[in-house]
Amino acid sequence: MSGPPLPAALTVVVPCYKEAANVAPMVARLDTALRGIAWEAVFVDDDSPDGTAAEVRAVAARDPRVRCIRRIGRRGLASAVTEGALASSAEFVAVIDGDLQHDETILPAMLEAVRGGAEVAVGSRHVEGGAASEGFSAARGAVSGAGTRLAQALLPTPVGDPMSGFFLLRRDLFEALAPRLSARGFKILLDVLLSAGRPLRVAEVPYHFRPREAGESKLDATVLLEFVGLLLDKALGGWLPWRFVSFAAVGAVGVLVHLAALYVAVDLFGIGFAAAQWVATFVAMTANFVLNNRITYRDLRLRGPRLWRGLLLFYLVCGIGAVANVGIAGLLLREDVVGWRLAGAAGALLTVVWNYAVSSTLVWRAR
Ligand code: GDD
Ligand code: MN
Repeated sequence: MSGPPLPAALTVVVPCYKEAANVAPMVARLDTALRGIAWEAVFVDDDSPDGTAAEVRAVAARDPRVRCIRRIGRRGLASAVTEGALASSAEFVAVIDGDLQHDETILPAMLEAVRGGAEVAVGSRHVEGGAASEGFSAARGAVSGAGTRLAQALLPTPVGDPMSGFFLLRRDLFEALAPRLSARGFKILLDVLLSAGRPLRVAEVPYHFRPREAGESKLDATVLLEFVGLLLDKALGGWLPWRFVSFAAVGAVGVLVHLAALYVAVDLFGIGFAAAQWVATFVAMTANFVLNNRITYRDLRLRGPRLWRGLLLFYLVCGIGAVANVGIAGLLLREDVVGWRLAGAAGALLTVVWNYAVSSTLVWRAR
């Protein structure tokens, strides 16, 4: 009698963006490393233009242990990992980069560590026997070192490599933590450790971080900003959403841009003040739109025709916000409710909240 095949004990989640050339080698390496373990691999691809998803499906056509989640209109390593892990029904979930930089041969040791009582097993470059230098440039190593120390200061428990993207834990633990995750940016393990609300028992398994062979790294300056955002989100206890903090910070930069543009228009080009105000307003709104599109709404970034549609909508939203600002401040002042300082502050606050709420729902359509 033959029933259905046995379910996997371990789901390996592989986030990937533009990793087509690495998919088949990845599966081959997992097959070798995980002999004797019932495993499956879930690749989570954000609709890579290089055909990564098609590559995964081609491998999956020959190997039922392989699956693909293809997300459209979304970007982000941490959210990709979260979705992959939540698609698992196995007892254990592991996360490994799809670019072959993590050493898959330590996965059985990581599994043993969790079976033996650890809550999270971390593939670690910074414990005895581990190394990062081969896979990192000197500059990248320095940035990573600073980030690691910052993260360690916030963690309730000592972890040598909290920036690792290579870890294994029980699925039910991940499921319990999932609603509390920020799921922003690149550092999902750090998110897990900071979201538990108690020190987790961590076991670190050393490995040598390998240099990347095919494809390229997606780490850039905005990834660093997202790292700051994740820490801020956790430090604020999720009370103020990081997206709002980012939107307000961009707004503050916009004020400076406005003043600079005003100065240039009036002083250097001799444009009359009223006309210069209009020019400065459009320059500042455009700068805010570009910064928000790249930072605040990075995961929902607008491109092509949707970019232009979004910009026009953003002008409209900010225009209404400005009218409301002037109106409310004027009303408060006329009715003698508060002095002009408070009236101005109330008007500005109302505008930021309005601009943020409507931009999130209409312009970028965040969840
Ligand atoms: N689905 C999806 N969406 N995957 C992504 C995205 C995304 O927006 N951005 C990156 N990835 C995938 C990459 O394809 C790769 O498989 C993995 O996430 C890591 O991205 P890299 O671009 O290779 O980043 P890295 O090498 O600079 O840093 C990684 O390795 C470090 C060392 O362990 C990250 O995983 C770090 O978290 C990790 O510490
Ligand atoms: Mn990498």
